[in-house]
Amino acid sequence: MPGRTIRIFADVQALSEAAAHEWVRCSREAVAARGRFTVALSGGSTPKRLYHLLAAEPFRSQIDWGRVEIFWGDERCVPPDHADSNYHMAREAMLAHLPIPTEHVHRIEAERADRDAAAWNYTDVLGRVFKDTVYADGPPPAFDLILLGMGPDGHTASLFPHTKALDETKRWVVANHVPQLNTDRLTLTRPILNRAREVLFLVAGADKAERLVEVLAGPADPKRLPSQSIQPDGQLVWFVDRAAAARLPSSLARENMQG
Ligand code: 6PG
Repeated sequence: MPGRTIRIFADVQALSEAAAHEWVRCSREAVAARGRFTVALSGGSTPKRLYHLLAAEPFRSQIDWGRVEIFWGDERCVPPDHADSNYHMAREAMLAHLPIPTEHVHRIEAERADRDAAAWNYTDVLGRVFKDTVYADGPPPAFDLILLGMGPDGHTASLFPHTKALDETKRWVVANHVPQLNTDRLTLTRPILNRAREVLFLVAGADKAERLVEVLAGPADPKRLPSQSIQPDGQLVWFVDRAAAARLPSSLARENMQG
């Protein structure tokens, strides 16, 4: 039964360890049911600790890395070796240290000059990897797990407040101009994000507290708070640290405090 789970942890280390256990659980379930585990990574700084944990024991040996297909939820329009690249961050923190077949690592070529062509290219990559589950005009493919973060403005992936990509109802990947950052980003869209069997938000830091209470306990306002528009077919799970949860209503906080 799809539902929303919120778990509050003392700090980003505890949150990341719980996320590593969740990754192991989801990957085992997916491989048992479908023979592989399809996951979309998030960028930013919060998931970095998780990526380091997964590349080391005790988590590394609990995952069948040969059956993992790695994607990204969004990417900055920079080359893959650039410090701002989400691919670069995940490669340095995790992928370079794991026996994942290179053909299972599907980065977004966001450095391409033709952003829209890069978006269609990634759509083709998704269509190819999920070919057994997608058909023309059918619904987008369902990831086993999608990792997402939330910015202090309530954005997620590269779905920023009041940007065009929020209006997309068909395409799986689009180039999104972000006037707030005066830049473009490539991002998965709500239609494909909301098809996931599980979406796991990792949110840490006091600078997120003001927006998090609005997203989790405030009135619906998905254009201003894009993280609110993530309502997947499957499980919606929020792992947040105490600093980010500081303004949550006590009822919501009390019932979800971990350890
Ligand atoms: C990106 C991300 C973005 C990120 C949030 C939170 O490319 O920046 O995908 O959506 O998750 O900005 O970032 P932090 O984890 O750094 O706070």
